[in-house]
Amino acid sequence: MSQEIIVVHGNNTLSGEVTVAGAKNSALKLLAASILGQGVSTIRNVPMISDIRIMSDVLRCLGATVEREGHTLTIDTTNVDKHETPYELVSKMRASISVLGPLIARFGQARVAMPGGCQIGERKIDMHLVGLHALGVEFSVDHGYLEARTPNGLRGTQVFLEFPSVGATENLMMAAIVATGDTVLENAACEPEIADLANMLNAMGADVQGAGTPTIRIRGVGFDTLHPCDHTTVGDRIEAGTFLVGGALTGGPLTVRGIDPSFLRMALMKLTAMGCEVETGEDWITVKRERPLVPTDIQTLPHPGFPTDLQAQYMLLAALADGVSVITENVFENRFMFAAELTRMGADISLEDHHALVRGVKGLQGAPVKSTDLRGGAALVLAGIVAEGETKVYKISHIDRGYEDYVGKLRALGADVERVVVE
Ligand code: UD1
Repeated sequence: MSQEIIVVHGNNTLSGEVTVAGAKNSALKLLAASILGQGVSTIRNVPMISDIRIMSDVLRCLGATVEREGHTLTIDTTNVDKHETPYELVSKMRASISVLGPLIARFGQARVAMPGGCQIGERKIDMHLVGLHALGVEFSVDHGYLEARTPNGLRGTQVFLEFPSVGATENLMMAAIVATGDTVLENAACEPEIADLANMLNAMGADVQGAGTPTIRIRGVGFDTLHPCDHTTVGDRIEAGTFLVGGALTGGPLTVRGIDPSFLRMALMKLTAMGCEVETGEDWITVKRERPLVPTDIQTLPHPGFPTDLQAQYMLLAALADGVSVITENVFENRFMFAAELTRMGADISLEDHHALVRGVKGLQGAPVKSTDLRGGAALVLAGIVAEGETKVYKISHIDRGYEDYVGKLRALGADVERVVVE
């Protein structure tokens, strides 16, 4: 059976300017939130990636119409009359679970296929369920489906999250906005995408304060108060960080546009610690490097800590640094699958539980490798750009889930990369 792969010719540099797309992790939830405003919502700066196509299908399956013109999606939720999300879609993309909160808010009930295991650790949804239960939702499991009911409606309450889960914070916010009374979410996730979602919800008539901080206060306004809106997605900090790593690897100078630098404070601090020069403006960041890469220790943490979604890319930088770095993954189990592929290209990495000991090497060699996940896949292409010889990256559907025209953007920055169909 034929498949598409990315072929990279190495010993290359990246420089110039690239504009990032809208944030995948925002846009997916903004699409889900459109269910909350009966009528036609417009969401702008939506990336053209396969995960967005799946979320569009989830909405269609609920009865919405979704049309795309460039990066603008027009979503008509007038006729949304189903509250069930089938296994075929949830199994393709775990983020489908983010319709749970909006469906409960709109219909007082929902039936969503249970997300199965995922390659990046267990990825449970227990915190979503505990928080929603506190708001008055009763759950049962029926033939692999999670059934949610609200026999006494949604009531505002205080929820203290065990861990600042992004998905749980979002689902709770989207349900609490229609509850009777006030809700306080404590130990909430602080990712910029949470604030983006809250801004959209407020534009729809909700009252959410404090999103982007650990304490979010929500005054329930009832479903009938909510209306459709026109919202623009924030820039993708992970796409920006990925290209900046490309610039840091090869020297640059490389500028990313369309991104608020405050979204990437920790990642930029680490670039500086590794020997890069970083300059920022209102919506751009430039990186360049004139001296050897310096090793540094990194631990992933919820925002504003170092993002787990940039861990593989920075592991690549550490792999070429002049010394030893320790990378600690605190957010997901099993998120070191990328290390084995990078080792095939000559990196020296030992794994011990959730720590990776990365001993810098002088260079990498091109090799056939496979994407193990979205971010690891993107990092392998970058590895191929600095490696000696040819790298073939397999299983690139992972990359297409989250990067719009990755190959086209890298080519514009000077990389010798192409998508090729092989048997
Ligand atoms: C989102 C992002 C993902 C990013 C992650 C952390 C989307 C579509 N995906 O994923 O790219 O890597 O945030 O920044 O936005 N957990 C539980 N129980 C729960 C919920 C989570 O144990 O109920 C655990 C997870 O297994 C994981 C950790 O908490 O180990 C973080 O998960 P969470 O913040 O919820 O990430 P996602 O929303 O799934």
